[in-house]
Amino acid sequence: MERTKNNTLPLDRMQELETYAMAWSSPVSDAVRAQVDKATTSLAYVDMASGPMMRGLLGFLVRASKAQRVLEIGTFIGTSAMGMAEAMDSLRDRQDPHAPHVPQDSHGPHAPYLLTIDKNKRYIELVKDAFAQEPYASIIESVEGDALAMLCAGDPRIFTPQRWDLIFLDGDKAHYPEYIEHVVELLRVGGVLVIDNVLWYGLVLDAETLATDKLASDADAHKPNATREEKHKQKAVAIDQMNQRLAQDPRLTIQILPFGDGLTLATRIQ
Ligand SMILES: C[S@@+](CC[C@H](N)C(=O)[O-])C[C@H]1O[C@@H](n2cnc3c(N)ncnc32)[C@H](O)[C@@H]1O
Repeated sequence: MERTKNNTLPLDRMQELETYAMAWSSPVSDAVRAQVDKATTSLAYVDMASGPMMRGLLGFLVRASKAQRVLEIGTFIGTSAMGMAEAMDSLRDRQDPHAPHVPQDSHGPHAPYLLTIDKNKRYIELVKDAFAQEPYASIIESVEGDALAMLCAGDPRIFTPQRWDLIFLDGDKAHYPEYIEHVVELLRVGGVLVIDNVLWYGLVLDAETLATDKLASDADAHKPNATREEKHKQKAVAIDQMNQRLAQDPRLTIQILPFGDGLTLATRIQ
């Protein structure tokens, strides 16, 4: 291990420090706050949703990369999409008209466009009202569907090589290795790939053992009556496989951050 600057924060005070960090970061919008409240009253669980820090980071990445075409896989309660759309909205009219850009689509060559996909009808219903408000309505398209099946079928809404400036992969972790077969190609050179949960509760450290463990074998974890524990372990194996494949992909530079449940930030360089 290099003897350079390391983490110096006290782990036992992380919660307080996160509160402090949020207090001195840009505030969450009223609309996002209202959507979190709505989801909290209508769902028994909202813990799959990104927290304010992750949403803030996504917004930052959109602004810093001037992303105008964003693909999100895994909408859930819609607040990550809303955060990114707010950032995209703030960039309106500040685009460089000479920047090489993207294929035309119904939103026009320089208009912000965010496509978010979720296979769960209930979540699609839950985001409808919020996404119908501006600025979200003119930026976000919400699609119900199995994103992997759409990718495999070459769905034209997603599938144009180098179409996307930023892709946020946050869907079904057990299939992450299959997703990345497609998404790197869809990212434009210079674009940003963000993947959540890449350290999977720390279990990626045990992935090799788990992969040889019968419980975690693909056949067991994909069987219809696989237990939660079996699926959980199989996801660790799949995520580890994806991390290794991505690291070997010459088209990308990658930084994995031990933030939240582990976050991959990658840019396409060729
Ligand atoms: C972790 S949540 C997404 C959270 C959201 N991106 C955020 O940051 O708040 C994962 C979502 O992926 C969706 N999902 C799982 N498998 C999917 C698939 N094959 N296609 C589309 N969506 C999927 C789930 O329904 C769930 O809403």
